[in-house]
Amino acid sequence: MRERRLIAIVVLCCAVVAVILLFPQFSSAQNGGFGLKKGDPDTPPPFYNPYPFGILPPNLNSEIARVLREVDFIESEALAQLRALPPPTLTNQPPLLAHTGQRLNVLVGKALNFDRNISPFKDRACGFCHMPYVGFSGPIPSVNLTMIAYPGSYQYRAGKRTAQRYTYSPSFPVLNYNQTQQAFFGGNFWDSRATGYLLGSPDANQAQGPPVDTQEHALPDTACVAFRLQSAVYKSFFIELWGDDLDAIKFPHNTEEICETPGGASIFGTDTMPVKLSPVDRAIANHVYDHWGQSIDQYEASPDVSAFSSKFDAFLHSATTNPLSADEMAGYNLFRGKANCNSCHLDGRSTAPTPPPPEGEAPNSTDTGAEASTAPLFTCFGSANLGLPLNPRNAFYYQTTPDFFGFTEMWH
Ligand code: HEC
Ligand code: HEC
Repeated sequence: MRERRLIAIVVLCCAVVAVILLFPQFSSAQNGGFGLKKGDPDTPPPFYNPYPFGILPPNLNSEIARVLREVDFIESEALAQLRALPPPTLTNQPPLLAHTGQRLNVLVGKALNFDRNISPFKDRACGFCHMPYVGFSGPIPSVNLTMIAYPGSYQYRAGKRTAQRYTYSPSFPVLNYNQTQQAFFGGNFWDSRATGYLLGSPDANQAQGPPVDTQEHALPDTACVAFRLQSAVYKSFFIELWGDDLDAIKFPHNTEEICETPGGASIFGTDTMPVKLSPVDRAIANHVYDHWGQSIDQYEASPDVSAFSSKFDAFLHSATTNPLSADEMAGYNLFRGKANCNSCHLDGRSTAPTPPPPEGEAPNSTDTGAEASTAPLFTCFGSANLGLPLNPRNAFYYQTTPDFFGFTEMWH
């Protein structure tokens, strides 16, 4: 981590521009009638498709429909788990929800995570881009091979990058600058922009990003979360957990109209709080939004998501009971030896080999020490510029013309 090489990527930016110029033909073949729920009185807006041919995969609509079915299935599983949970006991000073309170928190987090109603067109949940069967990353193989950035609630606005796993993300510390190392540590997202300063947790802070990210859930106002929760099936569990007086918020009559218009729409101008609330109601909505982030964080921190159950974890627990195979051991020795991977991906093992005879007994360079950590995360929580080039297939870079709502994602 000490050596940081800054590699200029200007040349690659030029390459991306060249690709855009070479493929100016715009495809409209993939626009279809997908998006709004049946029975919605509004006409669905035309799909946004500024992409050159080959960026959107041909099976995009059927894959989106498949993942939405899976999201709904996990949401119903969360509801069943919530209903089966014995209610916690409110007790103690300071008061707390004893016995099942933390499990309630985790399961509310799961229900929030897979609720597709938290988006203008009721078609995006966190889980849509983070599915369990791919390590909580992006679940659409053809998207991973073509557009890379995942399609948001207003199709086909595309998010920035591939979806990061959210396993172990709650373990990152609040973003901090280490004066001695002259480097940043902690924070969530690839660029650590979820600092965690507000809630004391980068991961809870992170969960407050996607609902109002124009390329993801795309709600135009954070208060839309409280608004949508007023009609959530699991509302009573949220209130039992946090005590927020959700129903007391007097939402203006045009709130649904506002919340079903994706963020960034020119109609909003620079107003990031278009739902007009009294200061008291805005405060409740803000609390709801904080609690949204905190419950999702606790779901991600729970063994349901961050299980520490890998073969390597078992090996660390007892190398004799759970030995690595010869191949695995060879890879591991390379990882922590010649390949130097564990100088950045800290593996929790001691790095001080017992010296060879005559001072010690082990052959040179064999690590016979105890684990330095029994729950290593294979990261130093720092950032390193690895000099990777821009990927010219990333749909994100082609969003250079205004969409139906007059919005252009400004990435440059
Ligand atoms: C449209 C796809 C999409 C949706 C919806 C989405 N994410 Fe993500 N998520 C991403 C992408 C892309 C990244 C990496 C973004 C970056 O670094 O800029 C990411 C990063 C993350 C990370 C950071 C992990 C780390 O180690 O730093 C977490 C945690 C996460 N998402 C959780 C969530 C939660 C919670 C929600 C719902 C509130 C959500 N995501 C909704 C695509 C999505
Ligand atoms: C100079 C520090 C450094 C070294 C040395 C290093 N890595 Fe990394 N590695 C990183 C960083 C930083 C990332 C995140 C890169 C990004 O932005 O996508 C990463 C990402 C990864 C990922 C992807 C993880 C994910 O969640 O997507 C894998 C796998 C990986 N490295 C394996 C290795 C292996 C194997 C080695 C040794 C051959 C190695 N790394 C050496 C810094 C390093």
